[in-house]
Amino acid sequence: MCGGVFLLALVVLIGPATEALDNGLALKPTMGWLHWERFMCNIDCDKDPDNCISERLYMQMADVMVKEGWKEAGYEYVCIDDCWPSHQRDAQGRLQADPKRFPGGIKKLADYVHSKGLKLGIYADVGKNTCAGYPGSLGYYETDAQTFADWGVDLLKFDGCYMDRTLLGEGYINMSHALNKTRRSILYSCEWPLYEWPIRQPNYTAIRETCNHWRNFDDVFDSWSSVKSILDWTASHQDIIVPSAGPGGWNDPDMLVIGNFGLSHDQQESQMALWAIMAAPLLMSNDLRDICPRSKELLQNRRIIAISQDPLGKQGYRTLKVDSFEVWERPLSKNQLAIAILNKQEIGGPRGYVIGAVPGWKTCDPLCNVTQILPQYKEMGIQTPHSSLVISVNPSGTALLTVTPISKLHWQNMSVKHKHPTIL
Ligand code: GLA
Repeated sequence: MCGGVFLLALVVLIGPATEALDNGLALKPTMGWLHWERFMCNIDCDKDPDNCISERLYMQMADVMVKEGWKEAGYEYVCIDDCWPSHQRDAQGRLQADPKRFPGGIKKLADYVHSKGLKLGIYADVGKNTCAGYPGSLGYYETDAQTFADWGVDLLKFDGCYMDRTLLGEGYINMSHALNKTRRSILYSCEWPLYEWPIRQPNYTAIRETCNHWRNFDDVFDSWSSVKSILDWTASHQDIIVPSAGPGGWNDPDMLVIGNFGLSHDQQESQMALWAIMAAPLLMSNDLRDICPRSKELLQNRRIIAISQDPLGKQGYRTLKVDSFEVWERPLSKNQLAIAILNKQEIGGPRGYVIGAVPGWKTCDPLCNVTQILPQYKEMGIQTPHSSLVISVNPSGTALLTVTPISKLHWQNMSVKHKHPTIL
């Protein structure tokens, strides 16, 4: 784990190892909503009009995002995933939306979403077909990029099914060029490394130059085992993937499934905390029309969102694994540090973790101020490098904290101002 600490220091000093895709987008991890995990490929609008993939779904989600404070909290992109198109291209070879489910077409939907001050995302595939069997973009990159631009689309999620894996890179790069050629700002979300890993280690320098974010690992499901598998994969590949993240390009551990059925509240807190630590895109896949107040409050928690969106743009990672605890740390701007302490023991009650045992705790020298954000907001006061503060963490829950170093001088000034005797 020392390797991890060393890497943290290195990443702080030199920043991301490579240039990001130079389209001015995703300077902070993308925030929004994406239909896939919750609504999948439900195309039966006769039987299930409220939950099928149709223009109504995105319009309703956009309405709620404005009315219920999501937009204000920073969630901006309303994203369509697979199963939106018609099985046939039009006479000009262009993709077209399923006419029954999207009677107004995508351009009208984009206008609607824009009228709410939000942005629209769409989905396509680098290969012959999408993963659900709809027409893929292979042979049509320029046509499809131009079609999306003409419609006013703001984000493209580009999947990697039905593609010769040795040609993946070429395909993703060509689509990136095609998007660029349209001159519309279209955020480019890739799945290139996910499909490349089975044949070789992906070239993250090229990926960062090509995409605004990229999926590395399996699709998230609505379960704790799925969230855990994503965290395990990320931690075990962190030396390879963390250095490539930074403003303009991010590792994407897939959607937030908070507000659905499979995670306990503690597990939802763990997903939110760790996605913020990982500088992950915050793309919720849930039903915002019907979400429990606690999940909503968690997803809109300004302090967690501030960690996710921290302007330094460094991805955090796991710095320690001991007993059933995992410690994850993310360097923030102004020399602050975010710490997530995850308790992976799924039996018994809350367990205590001594904060002084956090590898990055040396940042608290000579003094620091500690704020707990999860499970409850609590000011923990001023601490020292030898602090014996014990943080209680629920089974499969996470304590999320920020540490703000205080310099000796600042402390002395504060003591004088408040007429406190200086303790130094
Ligand atoms: C793949 C992707 C998912 C989703 C589905 C749609 O599995 O990884 O995120 O887009 O395809 O078919």
